[in-house]
Amino acid sequence: MKITVKAVADAPKKTDLLALSLYEGQTRLTSIAASIDKKLGGNISTVIKSKDFTGKKNQTVVLYTHGELWADRVLLVGLGKKEDFSLEAVRLASGKAAFIARELGVRSYATILHAEDSKENPLLVAEAAVEGTELALYSYSKYRTDKERIPKQISEMDILVPRASDVKTVQKAVDRSTLICDAVKLARNLANGPSNEVTPTVMADTARKIAQKRSLKCTIYDKEECMKMGMGGFLAVASGSQQPPKFIILEYWGAGKSKLPIVLVGKSITFDSGGISIKPAEKMDEMKYDKSGGSAVIASMQAIAELKLPVNVIAITAAIENLPGGAAYKPGDILSHYGGKTSEVLNTDAEGRLTLADVLAYSMKYKPRAIIDLATLTGACVVALGANISGLFTNNQHLADKVIESSKRCGEEVWQLPLSKEYYDQIRSEIADIKNTGGKAGGAITAAAFLGNFVGDTPWVHLDIAGTAWTQDGTAEKTYIPRGATGVGVRLIIELLRNLS
Ligand code: BES
Ligand code: MN
Ligand code: ZN
Repeated sequence: MKITVKAVADAPKKTDLLALSLYEGQTRLTSIAASIDKKLGGNISTVIKSKDFTGKKNQTVVLYTHGELWADRVLLVGLGKKEDFSLEAVRLASGKAAFIARELGVRSYATILHAEDSKENPLLVAEAAVEGTELALYSYSKYRTDKERIPKQISEMDILVPRASDVKTVQKAVDRSTLICDAVKLARNLANGPSNEVTPTVMADTARKIAQKRSLKCTIYDKEECMKMGMGGFLAVASGSQQPPKFIILEYWGAGKSKLPIVLVGKSITFDSGGISIKPAEKMDEMKYDKSGGSAVIASMQAIAELKLPVNVIAITAAIENLPGGAAYKPGDILSHYGGKTSEVLNTDAEGRLTLADVLAYSMKYKPRAIIDLATLTGACVVALGANISGLFTNNQHLADKVIESSKRCGEEVWQLPLSKEYYDQIRSEIADIKNTGGKAGGAITAAAFLGNFVGDTPWVHLDIAGTAWTQDGTAEKTYIPRGATGVGVRLIIELLRNLS
């Protein structure tokens, strides 16, 4: 969709719909809304007075303008209470408007930027409006052949701002936000992709394609090279599958080679059957989403390069499948990771940590100033925090605080769980350095502790996105998060990098 910023005075000559968001209980209309109301003979005021529309979050009413306005319809969208106004409220209301517009079959519509009477920065409000709109209209329909049942996409939206002097800067914000949304959609596409399409090779090819068009360096290591490097964890997990493993590195040097980079690590299990410790059949299909972390970091690199962020960032993800088979790794096996640490396999379904161990250990060679990893790592994290908040674990509170701050701004929620010495003790092994499970107790934390063994003193944040990477039981309704993969992590990473740079 093409999004153009215009001054209200230059409103389009003709459009299918104008979306107007109003606070809950708002009785006095502000400047633009008031003048539209007047043109419509007080129609909006009447609807408000009648209480048919109260401005509650997600509430909508469509009014017809009978040629009295340049828009054929006016859509009122509830923003919720004024005192609760936030960028998240803008995302939700913009998503709702986009949804209704698409349902009505409109080709183009306009919306008025709701920043006039709020204390939020109008540029951030514009970004939030784009996010809400673009992300709500996403759908994964490439495999559906009943195209006539799939809603038609909207081709154009105008964002109207009160002052003509703001048009340029707001348009810039809109364009930035569009690039970020493109990355979120790419992450969703990769994660939504079934495992028979999005194989480790396709993950690698996607990374390569992203790099070709932009100032990114892409390196892919195959099985033989990884063997030579001693990546015994990642290769053991890969051994039950016919799909060749791919160790994927994307590098972006936006701040000159003298500055230390931030390393982003993602879990890319293109399908997690559990391996020999096989999972129950119920919901096993959801394990195509076990590549969500890697999808998010690959997609983030696209946005980072497009936005030309003044930072150095390396993304690393080891893409493999976890399947049982004659050559599969087994419970009781002892693995030797990159760098030499050993681990005892107690459960082949705790494969993510084994894979990430090699990646984290490898990332040390960049002397990173920070490492952020994203992984659909444990069901235990979903038990602890549910399906709306990612678990955050760290060895560095300063870095964690930055991530938490960024998370509040972008609306991708996180909650910190402890990571103290006892959890490291819980996974000590008698016959190797560490074991890959510490039992049920504190399962999300012992998984984090396993990873913590491979980052040394480097500031590190681990995000367990098992609950948030796709919509599942307990996922709250959000207009801009349609069913399936959410693309979680992309907006958080970009927000964090903006804060750190
Ligand atoms: N990919 C799963 C984690 C997962 C499970 C995410 C369900 C979302 C929903 C991970 O590889 C896994 O299987 N973890 C095990 C670890 C256990 C064997 C110690 C788990 O959480 O059950
Ligand atoms: Mn698993
Ligand atoms: Zn997994």
